[in-house]
Amino acid sequence: MAYDYDYFVNEILRLTQIDLSSYKQNQMKRRIDAFIMRHNSKGYDDFVALVKRDKALLEEFVEYITINVSEFYRNPEQWKYLTEEVFPKLIERFGNRLTIWSAACSTGDEPYSLVMALSKYVPLSQIKVIATDLSDEIIEKAKIGMYGHKSVTSVPAEYKEKYFKKNGDFYQISDEIKRCVEFRKHNLLKDPFIKQCNLIVCRNVLIYFTEEAKDETFEKFFESLAKGGVLFIGSTEQILNYKTIGYVRKSNFFYEKPAD
Ligand SMILES: C[S@@+](CC[C@H](N)C(=O)[O-])C[C@H]1O[C@@H](n2cnc3c(N)ncnc32)[C@H](O)[C@@H]1O
Repeated sequence: MAYDYDYFVNEILRLTQIDLSSYKQNQMKRRIDAFIMRHNSKGYDDFVALVKRDKALLEEFVEYITINVSEFYRNPEQWKYLTEEVFPKLIERFGNRLTIWSAACSTGDEPYSLVMALSKYVPLSQIKVIATDLSDEIIEKAKIGMYGHKSVTSVPAEYKEKYFKKNGDFYQISDEIKRCVEFRKHNLLKDPFIKQCNLIVCRNVLIYFTEEAKDETFEKFFESLAKGGVLFIGSTEQILNYKTIGYVRKSNFFYEKPAD
């Protein structure tokens, strides 16, 4: 296989706006090589020429490298902490109309879980979650809101009953939950961040970023939070330099921007 990875990274950036150099290289390269071989391409140059001609393949490639596995209430014990400890404090501080950002939301499992969890305290008519992802295709899937059995395993029974309709082997999320989520395309490595957030949820994406890109993103989230706002991260993630940035660590996966 011709081995001009830098050329490949530049071409993919030009074609998709995705900067592969900010993702961990070994891991990313392994995935890309496997994809290229599966499509009988001779190497990076050959593959670039191929995706320039074949838009569907380019989209398939983007979906493959962005790794969009997700599920509702992923790591349920952390959602319990969010529901029982974090939401009541945020509501006390900021009132019912919280500004919530689900960054790298994938198929929507995460923002829809946020709406359901918050509905314990706040009427749906007052809930708004901004949900963003890099991939247009994934955002379209999220808007459709149709899920396999495995994705909804951890949804509390009462919400599964109330907010999903069984459709063959699939579960369709209800329009009343959908209405509370606004999906937008957003690249964490390039686009301006949403300001004055009360809660930012960004889970299971920064693990793929280089250390520099990850640090920069945690700093930008800090800037994006309102004072007293909270960042919720994934179960295999940690912010090593959280004190330097200014966060207060509330538990393993929740970091707060101090009130003043
Ligand atoms: C593994 S999923 C995580 C989904 C959800 N947050 C969760 O924890 O279940 C990772 C998502 O990150 C998105 N992603 C990857 N790079 C991104 C970037 N630079 N900016 C925004 N989203 C990105 C992918 O499209 C994918 O949907």
